[in-house]
Amino acid sequence: MKSATLNENPPTESMPKHPDIPRHIAIIMDGNGRWAKERGLPRREGHRAGAESIREVMEACKELGVEYLTLYAFSSENWNRPEDEVQALMNLLDRFLDEQAKELDKQKVRLQAIGQLDRLPQKTRERLEKIMARTAGHRSMTLVLALSYGAREEIVAAAKALAEDALAGKISPAAIDGDAFASRLQTAGIPDPDLLVRTSGELRVSNFLLWQISYAEIVIVKKFWPDFRQGDLFDSVKEYQSRHRRFGAL
Ligand code: FPP
Repeated sequence: MKSATLNENPPTESMPKHPDIPRHIAIIMDGNGRWAKERGLPRREGHRAGAESIREVMEACKELGVEYLTLYAFSSENWNRPEDEVQALMNLLDRFLDEQAKELDKQKVRLQAIGQLDRLPQKTRERLEKIMARTAGHRSMTLVLALSYGAREEIVAAAKALAEDALAGKISPAAIDGDAFASRLQTAGIPDPDLLVRTSGELRVSNFLLWQISYAEIVIVKKFWPDFRQGDLFDSVKEYQSRHRRFGAL
């Protein structure tokens, strides 16, 4: 697994057709707070601007023919932020869901969510569930929102589910393999990410999809998330296309 930091050349305006489009792109959207701080704005303004970048990136992924886009929108650790920031993030999520309810349906995009959704405010969860049900049959792209998500928690839950199934005689311990484990993760049925993008230049995976990113190509972009535009996504995909993926073989 190689990683590279994209420099700050002007981003690509458009993307030539290329056969090697990542099937699944996962993004750690980092740097909203620093973006706001640089402008003397409250942190919530950084998050608000970050929601705009989400819209751009969804468009770009659809244009490229990416099948799955997973966004780390709220981590299980984010609950430890000050109450007003958590509230601002939940309000933005509500607004995003309200705006996207019709749009996702129109664009034939399926919405899915991973994470401890029962920790979300009831109204937010209801909005989410409604759109997920409404878009369940769509396949032009799948947008996966990671909300109240932590990979370690997900892995522990899968281990518990396996232990319970073993106790109930549904699976023998000898039959437990990678597929059996992956089928108990919340991402069951979703292919592993081919490309993991992280903004703001930080070199961390921050408890995101730890099992699923085993062979993902990692691209680090030195821009805060609210500055991330369509061209930056195209550049990240170009970087991915320049890699030689070996999956551990020669
Ligand atoms: C990291 O910035 C970003 C998040 C906490 C999650 C991303 C949230 C959004 C893009 C807001 C809108 C979300 C939806 C789904 C509408 P940070 O606060 O950690 O930045 P910092 O590291 O500079 O402090």
